[in-house]
Amino acid sequence: RRYEVGVIAGDGIGPEVAEAAIPLIEKAAVAAGAEIAWTRYPWGCDYYHEHGRMMPADALDRLAPLDAIFFGAVGRPDVPDHVSVWELILPIRQAFSQYVNLRPMRLLPGVSTPLAGRGAADLDMVCVRENGEGEYSGLGARYDQGTPEESAEQIGRFTRRGIERVVRYAFSLAASRPRRLLASATKSNALQHSMVLWDEVVREVAADFPEVEWRPYHVDALAARMVTHPDTLDVIVASNLFGDILTDLGAAITGSLGLAPGANLNPDRTHPSMFEPIHGSAPDIAGRGVANPIGAIQAGALMLRELGLPSAHDALQNAVEQVLTEGTVRTPDLGGVAGTSEMAEAVAEAM
Ligand code: NAI
Ligand code: MG
Repeated sequence: RRYEVGVIAGDGIGPEVAEAAIPLIEKAAVAAGAEIAWTRYPWGCDYYHEHGRMMPADALDRLAPLDAIFFGAVGRPDVPDHVSVWELILPIRQAFSQYVNLRPMRLLPGVSTPLAGRGAADLDMVCVRENGEGEYSGLGARYDQGTPEESAEQIGRFTRRGIERVVRYAFSLAASRPRRLLASATKSNALQHSMVLWDEVVREVAADFPEVEWRPYHVDALAARMVTHPDTLDVIVASNLFGDILTDLGAAITGSLGLAPGANLNPDRTHPSMFEPIHGSAPDIAGRGVANPIGAIQAGALMLRELGLPSAHDALQNAVEQVLTEGTVRTPDLGGVAGTSEMAEAVAEAM
């Protein structure tokens, strides 16, 4: 069958890693008897300078009929980050009800971790991050700008429905994994409205999953636990902000931010899901051809799985792990000297 996939490569290293990953995703799909038709959308900071907005007014209408969206990264120093992120990636996540942000945090073979000796060999976690509301609801305002009385309010809006659906997804994911553990990131000692509701909903949903062993951790203690006892963690369910922070930490302890994939999932399949490396546009290394494409490639593997092509997922994922295990081709973030395209070519050969 034929799949329609939209590509928003974005800015900085976004296009570098996305274009390196696309031929590999294609190759895996074709080997599984599928076909992918790619449509590229040149949206991002260049588009912003030309048109005064990050994407056209009808962008969401154009993306809606697709089977999936493959995303690079967005953001550049010449456009304020709150503009680039709020006008491109967050509207897509929210409009398309991609309420689960699934972020595996697994130590791949051949990759070294700064946690050597701390149960790190068994490091296999996955974060289910709430992706549509919470701290990133966009509510709030600035007051009395430029005066000594200046202030700002940023409102985290949590709905029972919004918490419940993501927590349910996390519990069923935990139930499907061998260890059946779930950690809920909370902070209900200090956030006495939103996180108290979060805890209540988690407790209610837990009753439907007696086979899952779960417990809440305050997010600060959980961050510390990820470093000191990562082998005790399996599935982590977290709000939008907490999950954002914990997954960069998870990427760092599993070797590199450049390895980590993410899937913005609409589990109800009413709109396309979106797949991306979790890193940003990395202006510090953009344009040099040294970005690690593995995060984008693994995001492509997640996309193949969600499209219903598990054998294509496995082929691509196994090729990635073979290249990392061999260890001869590594980008600088993994201590090597290979460029983005060399790394991608090595994965292609392994496949
Ligand atoms: P970043 O993830 O772009 O970079 C953080 C550090 O990790 C940098 O030192 C970078 O060189 C390194 N890094 C990231 N990806 C890498 C890769 N594939 N290979 C090797 N090294 C890699 O985060 P930062 O610097 O906070 O943000 C840069 C821009 O990206 C900002 O405009 C920010 O708003 C945007 N951003 C966009 C995201 C998205 O599109 N989903 C997510 C995070 C940030
Ligand atoms: Mg982030």
